[in-house]
Amino acid sequence: MDDSILVVYESVTGFTRQYALWIGEELDCPVAALDEISAEDMSGRHTVIFGGRFHAGKVDGLKKAKRLFGKSGCKRLILFACGATPDSQGDMIAEAWKQNLTEEELKRIPHFYLQGGLKYETMPFGDRLMMKFFAAAVRRKKDKSPYEAAMAAAVGSSFDISSKEKIKPLVVYARETE
Ligand SMILES: Cc1cc2nc3c(=O)[nH]c(=O)nc-3n(C[C@H](O)[C@H](O)[C@H](O)COP(=O)(O)O)c2cc1C
Repeated sequence: MDDSILVVYESVTGFTRQYALWIGEELDCPVAALDEISAEDMSGRHTVIFGGRFHAGKVDGLKKAKRLFGKSGCKRLILFACGATPDSQGDMIAEAWKQNLTEEELKRIPHFYLQGGLKYETMPFGDRLMMKFFAAAVRRKKDKSPYEAAMAAAVGSSFDISSKEKIKPLVVYARETE
């Protein structure tokens, strides 16, 4: 097991957790939930990979993960976010990253988007309500932008488009760079 890397995740309905487990499996390194770890658990490692879901444009847990990473003295942070936005919507995904990272961080911190899905069955009530409102609003809207059309098609019901294949660029990056 490669203890120089630690994968940390924050997940509500399981997609981000699944991606974290796949990454951990591929890199043969430990994986932990954000609420289970401290800065000490990160320290002494070369790399921390943190993943959270996109939630109304924000990456869940990112602030805390960055704080722990900052305290730990660990060398390298790699981020991933999991969401329902189709992979085809590159501009919107780039825009979402801009809402989460400063210009300097966008250049310095490698960040990857991994499309997951939606699981209405296990979503907390408040989230389910928000998604249903959002889905109804984009469905009703006339003259939809390509992003709105893609979201209207995607978010009406549960779906799972996660796949281990999608972690490849992140894994290659983690392995091949120092
Ligand atoms: C209330 C709410 C807001 C969301 N906002 C976004 C968003 O801004 N962008 C996005 O791509 N996905 C968004 N999603 C979809 C989740 O990121 C997606 O379902 C993800 O796979 C959940 O990850 P998890 O299973 O690890 O919790 C949202 C989901 C909910 C319930």
